Amino acid sequence: MEKKNLNVGIVGYGFMGRAHSNAFLQAGRFFDLPYRPVLKALCARNAERAKTFADNWGYESVETDWRRLVERKDIDLIDIASPNDTHAEIAIAAARAGKMVLCEKPLGRNASEASAMTDAVERAKVANMVWYNYRRVPAVMLLKHLIDEGRFGRIFHYRAKFLQDWTISPNVSQGGEGLWRLDIAVAGSGVTGDLLAHAIDTALWLNGPIAEVTAMTETFIKERKHNLSGQVQPVGIDDASAFLARFENGSMATFEATRYARGHKALYTLEINGENASAEWDLHDLHRIRFFDHRDESQLRGWRSIHVTDSDHPYMKHWWVPGLQIGYEHTFVHQFADFLEALGQAKQAAPTFRDALETDKVTDAVLKSAETRQWTEPIRGIEPRP
Ligand SMILES: NC(=O)c1ccc[n+]([C@@H]2O[C@H](COP(=O)([O-])OP(=O)(O)OC[C@H]3O[C@@H](n4cnc5c(N)ncnc54)[C@H](O)[C@@H]3O)[C@@H](O)[C@H]2O)c1
Repeated sequence: MEKKNLNVGIVGYGFMGRAHSNAFLQAGRFFDLPYRPVLKALCARNAERAKTFADNWGYESVETDWRRLVERKDIDLIDIASPNDTHAEIAIAAARAGKMVLCEKPLGRNASEASAMTDAVERAKVANMVWYNYRRVPAVMLLKHLIDEGRFGRIFHYRAKFLQDWTISPNVSQGGEGLWRLDIAVAGSGVTGDLLAHAIDTALWLNGPIAEVTAMTETFIKERKHNLSGQVQPVGIDDASAFLARFENGSMATFEATRYARGHKALYTLEINGENASAEWDLHDLHRIRFFDHRDESQLRGWRSIHVTDSDHPYMKHWWVPGLQIGYEHTFVHQFADFLEALGQAKQAAPTFRDALETDKVTDAVLKSAETRQWTEPIRGIEPRP
């Protein structure tokens, strides 16, 4: 296939800066894609550290102000891998400059920001995608195929959890490098926007729209030292968040996320129960699904544990030989490969900004419900923030 160059400029060299850079480098080596990403520029505020990262990953140049990156004529695509408070401003400016935009999740700190971002990419008619990477775990994609084939019949229950334990100590401070997730002004919310957003995105994709939610949140540690002011300040984020939901298809659901589940590091689990079948998936064992089909011969009926590593499983023929599993970083490779494939066919890869806006509407409804103690519907139409 004749490949065209696609010049990439990325903002941020942290956790996601590495995950995305790895995807840019690996995608074309394992997938036959119509575009070849060229790592043109890395943008971060610390010039020296940015240069070290750029040299390590093969970026041709460095910028310390994202505005300059967005203005550059030699960049086709801006990838936003920086904290949540930067997403809206960068994405809107990039779209106005005619660049394709990839953005980390959550799309905005709230649905109003996400709506303005969606408006900007759609007005500019630029390709756009949000890195809800768990959709691209082969086992989760297999689950999507099984649901779409109708194997579950009517869905009754959806159950999701995302559990961590890294903020239990009151000595963990808030704000600044590595700890911006605890700073409400930067993050927008706590585990609701950070962890539940993943669970909600997968759920909307697998099980359709959510009609209403009722939620509770808790901030267990009320004050922490802020790294930028040096002062002990109130904590504005939710440390834990749980909600009940009704889906439009009539199924009911429970969702829970916390950073206070001692012993759990990144335990994202989901389960679906339908009239004919059930399935479970777990991020700590990400290459398996457990599947039960009630229509199996009764004496042999039982939960099967499917090792999703065969060449006819989603994405797997691009990797090693059947039976050899892949991991977390591959989800980003898959998502970027899907993006380039779609681009080659003048299509959009999901989740688009518009898809991710739906998740922000649900997280807004969760936070509102927790505050008002009322069942709450996700807002339908929404005015973009100017
Ligand atoms: N898809 C996923 O599974 C996943 C996982 C982790 C994080 N995320 C999301 O990715 C984003 C980044 O998170 P992270 O964990 O990589 O954070 P991080 O703290 O590891 O890295 C953030 C990077 O952004 C840079 N940065 C901050 N402000 C900037 C600015 N104004 N201009 C340029 N660079 C700036 C920092 O220097 C740093 O390099 C967040 O939105 C987060 O929610 C998604």
